[in-house]
Amino acid sequence: MNDFVKIVEVGARDGLQNEKSVIEFNQRLEFLNLLVRSGFKSIEVGSCVSPRWVPQMDNSTALYAALEKPEQVSFSLLVPNMKGLEAAIEAGCKEVAIFTAASESFAQKNINCSIQESFERFKPMFDVAKQHGIQVRGYVSCVVDCPYEGAIAPEKAARVAKQLFDLGCYEISLGETIGTASPVRVRKMLQHCLNVLPVDRVAGHFHDTYGMAIANISESLEQGLRIFDSSIAGLGGCPYAKGASGNVATEDLVYLLEQSGFQTGIDLSAMLKAGHYIASVLQRENQSHFVKAHTAKLLD
Ligand code: HMG
Ligand code: MG
Repeated sequence: MNDFVKIVEVGARDGLQNEKSVIEFNQRLEFLNLLVRSGFKSIEVGSCVSPRWVPQMDNSTALYAALEKPEQVSFSLLVPNMKGLEAAIEAGCKEVAIFTAASESFAQKNINCSIQESFERFKPMFDVAKQHGIQVRGYVSCVVDCPYEGAIAPEKAARVAKQLFDLGCYEISLGETIGTASPVRVRKMLQHCLNVLPVDRVAGHFHDTYGMAIANISESLEQGLRIFDSSIAGLGGCPYAKGASGNVATEDLVYLLEQSGFQTGIDLSAMLKAGHYIASVLQRENQSHFVKAHTAKLLD
């Protein structure tokens, strides 16, 4: 058994992009530095998207420039188009993530173009990324359900994922954007995707709206996945997926993995500190079940 699981910490991007208020630059920076010290090997810093669309992610390149960057950690920026990629390059970033969807309506709402048009935007970006030695990760949103279209055919999710992979993405993150899927449907979707993609290049990205994320990750582990995206304190959501709650809480993911015999490389107490910090900045309870139980025990 391959017993190491890669966690991509997306709280500073997927988490903070969905906050009503814009979090101060220094607080985003402190949060990111606490994540770095928690032992994550992959951290999404923010997005180079239109500040009119997602004002919360403004100044992400300055954030990238300012944070502690140990060599062994990979930091990425989410980019929707060439303009975003150029901004990431200028900041010196070595990894970007592009994003499209398995649902036409979601693509229109989120990135203002069709799925096909998103691929037209992406194509020239790969040459530029290659020239600058930049790795490109790819997200497919709505791999099971869409907030506008309902159920998405697993064949469609697999087709879009494969197209991103063939373009040159080194890893494909399958986004269960609205957190409505349960394990049987996730299995079906994964079986289609794993027919066309190598399992070690596929990541699970589960939101937890219906409380199914941990069950879906368990199913994904059964199907052979060893890469998962998560957000400290269960932060997150997409501004263009109304009602969807945060990503699976990283603390719960780490608990599941370590209890199941996997290694994560995460320093538990440093991770708890990062979660505590961002929950106090947001003046919100940490959404992790593990943290709630752990805190209750300490107060007992
Ligand atoms: P558009 O309006 O069609 O773009 O938006 P445009 O090319 O016509 O440009 C319009 C204006 O935006 C121009 O400015 C551009 O310069 C500017 P103006 O001349 O009007 O002042 N612009 C930019 N500014 C900064 N950075 C850029 C950029 N590009 C254009 N890169 C666009 C198209 C894609 C830009 C817009 O729709 C957008 O920014 N969308 C981002 C939406 C987003 O960030 N959503 C959340 C992330 S995805 C997610 O959460 C899902 C995920 O977690 C997986 C899952 O859970 O499913 C990944
Ligand atoms: Mg997401």
